[in-house]
Amino acid sequence: MALKERDEFSGQMTTGHEWNGIKELNTPVPRLLWAFLATLGLFAIVWTVLMPSWPGVSGYFRGLLGADQHQAVRQSLVEAEAARAGWSERLAVEKFDTLAADPAIMDVVRTTGPALFGDNCAACHGNDAGGNPGYPNIAEAPMMWGGDVDTIAETIRVGINSTHPDTRYGQMLAFGRDQMLGSAEISALADYLVSLQGEKSLTVEETGTAETLFADNCAACHGEDARGLVETGAPDLTDSFWIYGGDRSTIRHSIYNGRQGTMPSWEGRLSPTQIRLLSLYVMDLRGSTP
Ligand code: HEC
Ligand code: HEC
Repeated sequence: MALKERDEFSGQMTTGHEWNGIKELNTPVPRLLWAFLATLGLFAIVWTVLMPSWPGVSGYFRGLLGADQHQAVRQSLVEAEAARAGWSERLAVEKFDTLAADPAIMDVVRTTGPALFGDNCAACHGNDAGGNPGYPNIAEAPMMWGGDVDTIAETIRVGINSTHPDTRYGQMLAFGRDQMLGSAEISALADYLVSLQGEKSLTVEETGTAETLFADNCAACHGEDARGLVETGAPDLTDSFWIYGGDRSTIRHSIYNGRQGTMPSWEGRLSPTQIRLLSLYVMDLRGSTP
């Protein structure tokens, strides 16, 4: 390695490195770099003074500007809660007809309802509340237990054949399995119910026999006219809505084996306000008023 020496043209010292006769000058770092580093340092100092920075024993230095992301988040949560509280308080206490008449409240019901229904009810009743086999259409079918909004709210609260102490209780008896009716009688009734839908016509005699069977065995729950009774929760058997199915063999199955659908109770799982909101939502889907 060559010795450090002074370059004869520039007067600078060399580094002592030499490549094929070319020597490297030992040029100092330019002053501009020092100015740059100084600016960075100054910025860092000013920033730590203005913004939350140094940790301490009991917290941290909060900065002179008082900038605080936690505070900002807390503030926006408080504002959102206040906006919600306005309508959730009203939903909790006001009468259904007052609420239903208020477009602002129904706006909330229509925007919040679908998610609440989707999360809790759609698995059984379908996204559009139109029902699935075994689960009734609650958007259009006449309500077995009554369709005014107070009644709907009570059904949602206690459920049907549920574990709630106040549950609604309804049971379609197993007329065949429990030998209350013979096979021919069950067939006659099944034919009769199909004929009520206009899909089959019976002779006067057949109709007479079935009507007697119906009056003796079914009318107590389904009503003399077979249109259902809210007192027993037995459905209308004359319309086009069927929980289990309106074809002859499914009807026969219903009469032979009985049915006892279970609607869970929602008290304790949904807040009273959420139950009231859903009741208004279902009412609104049905296009009815309280
Ligand atoms: C696990 C399935 C299931 C879930 C979840 C469910 N339901 Fe039901 N629901 C039923 C069944 C089954 C019936 C009919 C019971 C019967 O056959 O008597 C019913 C009946 C009803 C009725 C009464 C219908 C009538 O004709 O009177 C209403 C109202 C109702 N459900 C609303 C809801 C709402 C609102 C939710 C969501 C909070 C919901 N259901 C969630 C199964 C369910
Ligand atoms: C003790 C009351 C009771 C009696 C008596 C009764 N039912 Fe029912 N029935 C019900 C109830 C409640 C339901 C609804 C069951 C459910 O949803 O799980 C029902 C449901 C049905 C269904 C199914 C409806 C559907 O939408 O799929 C048919 C069909 C039916 N009943 C026919 C009859 C016939 C026919 C008789 C007479 C032989 C009769 N029921 C007697 C209470 C009764």
